[in-house]
Amino acid sequence: MTPDLMEQGAQRRADYEARQQASRNTESGGRDASYGRIARLGVPDFTQGVALYLDDITVSFDGFRALNKLSLTVNVGELRCIIGPNGAGKTTMMDCITGKTRPDSGTASFGSTIDLLRLSEPQIAQVGIGRKFQKPTVYEDLSVFENLELALAADRRVRASLFSRLSGEQLDRIGETLGTIHLMADAQRTAGLLSHGQKQWLEIGMLLVQDPKLLLLDEPVAGMTDEETERTAELFLSLEGKHSLVVVEHDMKFVDQLTEGRKKVTVLHEGSVLAEGLLAEVQNNEKVVEVYLGR
Ligand SMILES: Nc1ncnc2c1ncn2[C@@H]1O[C@H](COP(=O)(O)OP(=O)(O)O)[C@@H](O)[C@H]1O
Ligand SMILES: [Mg+2]
Repeated sequence: MTPDLMEQGAQRRADYEARQQASRNTESGGRDASYGRIARLGVPDFTQGVALYLDDITVSFDGFRALNKLSLTVNVGELRCIIGPNGAGKTTMMDCITGKTRPDSGTASFGSTIDLLRLSEPQIAQVGIGRKFQKPTVYEDLSVFENLELALAADRRVRASLFSRLSGEQLDRIGETLGTIHLMADAQRTAGLLSHGQKQWLEIGMLLVQDPKLLLLDEPVAGMTDEETERTAELFLSLEGKHSLVVVEHDMKFVDQLTEGRKKVTVLHEGSVLAEGLLAEVQNNEKVVEVYLGR
């Protein structure tokens, strides 16, 4: 175990604790200043049914507008697919939500109370937004279980003995997550030996043990086999309702499976929303067909 890894474990633990504290605050309805750090971050309020609200967001890189007055609302528990040609601004949108990129103008809020543009990247993770990058970043030398354990990072004594004394509740949480990501039978396997798809699921599991309210997934099935893709769709569908999900993906079969013929998708183009509607509708939308064919 390198000091670096232990440091990361401690950080994950700190993030997790802050998030737990935040959810306790929400439950008690409290915004008491004595809650300290989290009280300063704010308590997300989901009573209006809104998980994520972006309004009029503009991001320029050297005068080029990657996002151009982008507005988008995602409801609590909603699974929203975002499609759009390369360069449409999909990843930049996620960068804005997670604090990696600061917009030039606009509004971004988590629930109806948390101003995301005021928070740092780690703070945004702490209030309950999890992001899955395209490339899996699991700890290859550790087992599946240990990866989840690290994500949960059970104890302050983590520096002395990283993997000891999980509480029953924490064990349950890891067990539940192993089931959700279909890796129960592989719990003791070294993560480096997993298939590409399984590594992606493990990484999603590492987000899930921290119980994010909103999950952002950028091209989650890139490089997966057809079967892995199908199982990933099933996984996301099982998360819908408990979490809000924003899924950026090019694979239309996957998007079709996720939307189940009834959920709307958002089409981004040149940094703004070009169309919104059922997949079948937007696929027949003339403007959408044009941008995809590059005419
Ligand atoms: N850090 C950056 N500096 C300059 N241009 C960028 C940067 N990030 C993204 N862009 C540009 O912004 C546009 C949108 O990129 P991106 O959000 O990655 O699109 P998508 O994810 O939809 O393919 C692209 O033209 C890209 O080249
Ligand atoms: Mg992208």
